Amino acid sequence: MALLRTEDVTKTFGALTAVNRVTLAVEEGTLHSIIGPNGAGKTTLFNLLTGQAPPTSGRILFDGRDITGTPPQRIAHLGIARSFQRTNVFPALSVLDNVWVAVFARSRRRGLGWRPADRYPDLTERALAALGEVGLGDNARRAARELSHGEQRQLELAIALAAAPRLLLLDEPAAGLSPDETRKMVALVRGLKGRYTIVLIEHKMDIIMTISDRVSVMHFGSLIAEGTPAEIQRHAEVRRAYLGGIVAP
Ligand SMILES: Nc1ncnc2c1ncn2[C@@H]1O[C@H](COP(=O)(O)OP(=O)(O)O)[C@@H](O)[C@H]1O
Ligand SMILES: [Mg+2]
Repeated sequence: MALLRTEDVTKTFGALTAVNRVTLAVEEGTLHSIIGPNGAGKTTLFNLLTGQAPPTSGRILFDGRDITGTPPQRIAHLGIARSFQRTNVFPALSVLDNVWVAVFARSRRRGLGWRPADRYPDLTERALAALGEVGLGDNARRAARELSHGEQRQLELAIALAAAPRLLLLDEPAAGLSPDETRKMVALVRGLKGRYTIVLIEHKMDIIMTISDRVSVMHFGSLIAEGTPAEIQRHAEVRRAYLGGIVAP
């Protein structure tokens, strides 16, 4: 069964149809990529999946349950986590505390008081484990602002993982990274593959083609193709969309 399913999901902003009748199924345990030029509606689709905005029409089903119009906090508790296209960490907090806050929020425990981390050693363990997963275990005590840009993206990933998500949504995790940092991030995501169900937005074709189980292609809000990486590479309409000068293949 698909872990995530959208049925004819549409989002309009005034006269603009940012997401146009998108029907998508993400199978449990797979890495499913969404590619498409800037403005294709990829991030908007994520906003709909996480409840940041309600769809104008259509349905979203997570694990068979209709979550259309469910508020973001509830969707997070159901097990959908995301990382953002832009870095979204608290610069003044330590690396550990950035993750700890996410673990605490997910735990539904109350009573944030003086030195709460010391009161919940199990949560601290989980936060440290998430940092270990992204290779930031040795940086736990540093302030987040001292991390390089690439490390901040890794931290974002740790924050998403700390919630023990059933579905992980990654929005251009390699955006703005140097070639070295990009390689590291791709290796990280590859390491998560199989252990998490992942939807990855990316527009670097070389990354997509080596890492994905399935690829969906968005163009002007609509899905124009879906298939394995090899099928997508052969797909005539995709080639036209990409070779038509909109974005380099
Ligand atoms: N909150 C919003 N209000 C109005 N237009 C929006 C809003 N969010 C996104 N858009 C528009 O929707 C289209 C799709 O944007 P987006 O989903 O960010 O594309 P992508 O992530 O594929 O680059 C763009 O034309 C963008 O300007
Ligand atoms: Mg985007």
